[in-house]
Amino acid sequence: MGDLLKDKNILIMGVRNKWSIAWGIAKAAKEQGANLIFTYLGEREKESLLKLTEEMGDVASFPCDVSNDEELDALFAEIKNRYGVLHGVVHAIAFAKSEDLQDTFVNTSREGFRIAMDISVYSLLAVSKRARELMTEGGSIITLTYRGSVKVYPGYNVMGVAKAALEASVRYIAQELGGQNIRVNAISAGPIKTMSAKGVKNFSDILSIVEEKSFLKRNITLEDLGGSAVYLLSELSSGVTGEVLYVDAGYNNMGL
Ligand SMILES: NC(=O)c1ccc[n+]([C@@H]2O[C@H](COP(=O)([O-])OP(=O)(O)OC[C@H]3O[C@@H](n4cnc5c(N)ncnc54)[C@H](O)[C@@H]3O)[C@@H](O)[C@H]2O)c1
Repeated sequence: MGDLLKDKNILIMGVRNKWSIAWGIAKAAKEQGANLIFTYLGEREKESLLKLTEEMGDVASFPCDVSNDEELDALFAEIKNRYGVLHGVVHAIAFAKSEDLQDTFVNTSREGFRIAMDISVYSLLAVSKRARELMTEGGSIITLTYRGSVKVYPGYNVMGVAKAALEASVRYIAQELGGQNIRVNAISAGPIKTMSAKGVKNFSDILSIVEEKSFLKRNITLEDLGGSAVYLLSELSSGVTGEVLYVDAGYNNMGL
């Protein structure tokens, strides 16, 4: 236990199950004293979240589909009522239609492209716009991205393009919110087995290659991500904003 996030109200979005990156971050934030507020998508995720958080004591959870403005408004109104102030947001949400992660990129449908951008990118704007109103003591917003934003991973397709837009959005939002002492950063995570990752073609090959080639000769863990997220959410990173932090065992710097 530490106190890097003591008395900080932190909203965690994107816990599907115990393998979710958001869950790894939630556990690490809790260990540093954070008050956690969760969102879930649908009844199945609600049940899974309730089981996971059973032993965490006093945590709140609210439904939120980020493609729905009314649900976002209701979520932030509820947070305002219950907590008044928000200090951190973890945005660990992405979605693309499965056919768009299996077929070739040029065959992405107009609707598939729109949905991927709406849920995986626009949602960060939609959340940041509402969160800033409650971040009256400054704050930290983090999102999750992948190296497919800057290099081609065949099959990652529209999600790579969405992650490029997400990283650019991080810089624009960080510039606009900086004057309020709200910092906005992305963690570029190495591959890690989650439900979302299962939808990516050749994902197990990516895991094997990273294990073989990365500087640390291993894949990353939820604990690796939790630690870096605590750094970005806490005052330890008080001078850091608009950045993409690679947490990938050094793989992104490998030439061959
Ligand atoms: N797993 C990896 O290898 C990896 C690597 C780099 C980045 N990421 C990113 O990490 C983030 C978290 O993904 P994960 O791998 O933990 O997978 P996950 O499947 O456990 O979590 C994804 C979450 O997004 C949520 N979501 C999807 N559509 C939503 C909507 N309309 N409204 C609200 N929530 C919605 C899901 O309900 C789920 O909770 C994503 O942005 C993903 O792209 C994952």
